[in-house]
Amino acid sequence: MYDVISNSAEETLALGRKIAPLLKKGDVLVMTGDLGAGKTLFTTGILEFYEKKDEVSSPTFTIVNEYDLKEDLKLFHFDVYRLESPEEFLAIGGDEFFEKGICLIEWGEKIEEYLPKDVLRINIKKDTEEEGKRIFSFSWTSSRYDELFKEVI
Ligand SMILES: Nc1ncnc2c1ncn2[C@@H]1O[C@H](COP(=O)(O)OP(=O)(O)OP(=O)(O)O)[C@@H](O)[C@H]1O
Ligand SMILES: [Mg+2]
Repeated sequence: MYDVISNSAEETLALGRKIAPLLKKGDVLVMTGDLGAGKTLFTTGILEFYEKKDEVSSPTFTIVNEYDLKEDLKLFHFDVYRLESPEEFLAIGGDEFFEKGICLIEWGEKIEEYLPKDVLRINIKKDTEEEGKRIFSFSWTSSRYDELFKEVI
């Protein structure tokens, strides 16, 4: 487990930019946290590193947005909040994306039963007192992410 405090929207973008170069094809990041916690903003930070920021759009109405980060590296940004049921995720072929690139999933707990076994979980909590403060808690079970956090910490 690894906790990071972000004190502003800019710090959350910077955290995304810092992690971005360490992510690999097959990584699955499951983001949980209230409305407005910073899930999309953290994803935007990752896309900024790859200079794809201008293309960012919220996947709210499309469920998944696809980005070409570089040759042979794609990023799939999901927001599964609006799925009627977890089964709808399979119906849209959601699980077929896991192997194809980096996957970031907002509200991933809604499709818990269809997530791969080893994911990187990111829970974002809003501070109850300080408006712009967020606590990012990263947790994982796979040694793949031990490797990733060796670089971050
Ligand atoms: N430290 C911070 N980190 C992230 N966002 C912050 C922070 N402080 C303030 N904010 C603001 O909180 C909002 C985060 O919005 P964002 O769209 O990223 O949330 P979200 O978790 O994706 O919400 P939703 O569940 O509605 O998709 C932005 O308006 C941002 O400016
Ligand atoms: Mg969002």
